[in-house]
Amino acid sequence: MTDSNVQIRLAGPQDKDTVTRVFHDAGLDTDAALAEGTTYWVLERSGQPLGAIGLEHGDGASLLRGAAIVPSARGGGLGRRLVMSAVEYAQGRGDRAIYMFSKGGDWGSFGFQQVPLAVVMGELPDAPQIRAYRARSERPGGTTWMRPLDQKVGKA
Ligand SMILES: CC(C)(COP(=O)(O)OP(=O)(O)OC[C@H]1O[C@@H](n2cnc3c(N)ncnc32)[C@H](O)[C@@H]1OP(=O)(O)O)[C@@H](O)C(=O)NCCC(=O)NCCS
Repeated sequence: MTDSNVQIRLAGPQDKDTVTRVFHDAGLDTDAALAEGTTYWVLERSGQPLGAIGLEHGDGASLLRGAAIVPSARGGGLGRRLVMSAVEYAQGRGDRAIYMFSKGGDWGSFGFQQVPLAVVMGELPDAPQIRAYRARSERPGGTTWMRPLDQKVGKA
């Protein structure tokens, strides 16, 4: 299957079920997917949804929500394309930084570095995912990551 069959397109309200299913199948939270103040994308190959990603926007920073590729399509570079297209979008809207939570994996190869949870809580207090954690009096598990956006997009 060639690259030209792969498309990353903006998601709309009609894609909520698709995004929720892809996130769920990847073991990710589906809370507040496609909430107001967010931008989501669906990755399709030959019209088949294989991945999804979202950004929750704050003031000069965004929170990356759920980079997910369906298990059968992993390991072929689609995840990297999805993440990098969201990074480019955040850069284009003038964000200083992009944040994310992860339960595993090393996001250093995507240009992210680990930061304390308090940093993202302070930078994006109104992001839907952070509001959802706060409403449940939970703290996000795993690691908090930040990618500064004053650098060139590309593999670090
Ligand atoms: C993370 C994920 C989107 C990567 O998708 P993919 O199509 O397999 O990724 P690629 O083939 O483009 O690989 C990109 C890089 O991601 C790395 N990677 C694979 N799984 C990873 C994970 N769970 N976390 C971080 N990095 C991961 C690969 O080692 C690869 O690094 P390399 O290019 O230096 O070799 C996919 O594994 C997934 O959906 N995981 C479950 C959901 C998840 O954990 N999302 C991230 C937290 S929100």
